[in-house]
Amino acid sequence: MKIFIDSGDIAEIKEAQAMGVIDGVTTNPSLLSKAGKPTKAAIAEICEVVDGPISAEVVGVEAQEILREGRELAKIHKNVVVKVPLIDEGLKAVRIFAAEGIKTNVTLCFSASQALLAAKAGATYISPFVGRIDDISGEGMDLIQQIVQIYRNYEFKTEVLTASVRHPVHFVQAALIGAHVATLPLKVIKQLLKHPLTDIGLAQFLADAKKIPQS
Ligand code: E4P
Repeated sequence: MKIFIDSGDIAEIKEAQAMGVIDGVTTNPSLLSKAGKPTKAAIAEICEVVDGPISAEVVGVEAQEILREGRELAKIHKNVVVKVPLIDEGLKAVRIFAAEGIKTNVTLCFSASQALLAAKAGATYISPFVGRIDDISGEGMDLIQQIVQIYRNYEFKTEVLTASVRHPVHFVQAALIGAHVATLPLKVIKQLLKHPLTDIGLAQFLADAKKIPQS
C-alpha cells in the first residue's frame, strides 16, 4: 500500500519524507492556501523533496479551463498528477488528459457511481473522501469497499486513493480492503507509529541495559 502525505506545508512534507515512509503527496487549494506561496512555486518545491506522484488541483470548472490549467501544472515536473473535480466537465478533461499521457487524480468522490464513471473516463486515481462522509453520519469506509470491489470486477486500472483520512483506523481499514493508496495528514502518519507498549518496552530495555556489566 502506498502512503501519501496530505499537505501543502513544505516543513511537514520534509518531516514525513525523512521518516522514509512517503510515496507521494496530495494537495488541494485549502491546504495550499495555508502555505502562503503561489501554487506553481509550492508544487515545484514539493517535487524537489518527494520523488513520487504529487497531486496539484485545478480550480477551473469548465473542461477547456481545466485542460489549460492542468497542462500548465503538468509542465512543472514529470511527477505532477493533475487533480480534477468529479463533475461532468472534469471527466471530459480527464479523458483528454489520459490520451495526452497526463496523470489525473479525480477528487471529491462521494459515491460508487461517481467512481465508476471516473474510471471509465481514464482517471489514474480516484479520491473518495471517507472523513467527510463520516462527518455527516455516513460510513466512509463502505465506499472504499464498494469502489475496490467494482474496480476489481471490471479490472479498471484506476487506483483507489483513500482521502480525507482522520485517524489510524481509517488507514488500517483501507489497507485491509485493499485500497491502493491512503493520503494522510502528518498527524495521522505519526499516530500510526505510536504504541504505548513499544514505549514501555523500550524504557524497560534501556533501564535493564544499564545493569549489564560493561567488562
Ligand atoms: C486529498 O486529496 C483531499 O483533498 C483531502 O484528503 C481532503 O481532506 P479533508 O476532508 O480533511 O479536507
